[in-house]
Amino acid sequence: MSKNILIINGPNLNFLGRPEMSIYGKETLVDLHSIIYQWITNEEWQSRFFQSNSEGEIIDYIQNNFEWADGMVINPAALSHTSIAIYDCIKSISLPSIEVHLSNIYHREEFRRTSITGLACEKVIAGLGVQGYIEALEDLKKILK
Ligand code: DQA
Repeated sequence: MSKNILIINGPNLNFLGRPEMSIYGKETLVDLHSIIYQWITNEEWQSRFFQSNSEGEIIDYIQNNFEWADGMVINPAALSHTSIAIYDCIKSISLPSIEVHLSNIYHREEFRRTSITGLACEKVIAGLGVQGYIEALEDLKKILK
């Protein structure tokens, strides 16, 4: 059955693909969206993509779109490590949500090892690059069936 999925990306991920961001792979945000969109259309699902550098805009977008959605894939980027507000937002909507990190946050700087927002999600996937988003969608497919 068709499902509606929110795909949310946080601060600086609009810069994916720039040389300074090589730790996250070669793909740009547009590449990432088209890879996800291919999976989504193949399943005959629908998605809404959103990226923002602002915590408040991310919360507003989730609050304005969660009623349409059956599940969410979210990479809150640096806000994962700091944002109780996004944690509260994810908790308050009771939407099955999977957090994705392109890099392996557990093998980088100490300050990246804890994800506050991940505690509100079913699961955190880290270190698989763009494939992590596809794994997250596969996980949602299992959860939503
Ligand atoms: C990231 C990891 C975060 O620590 C970092 O601040 C990012 C990207 C990732 O996808 O690996 O911006 O979420």
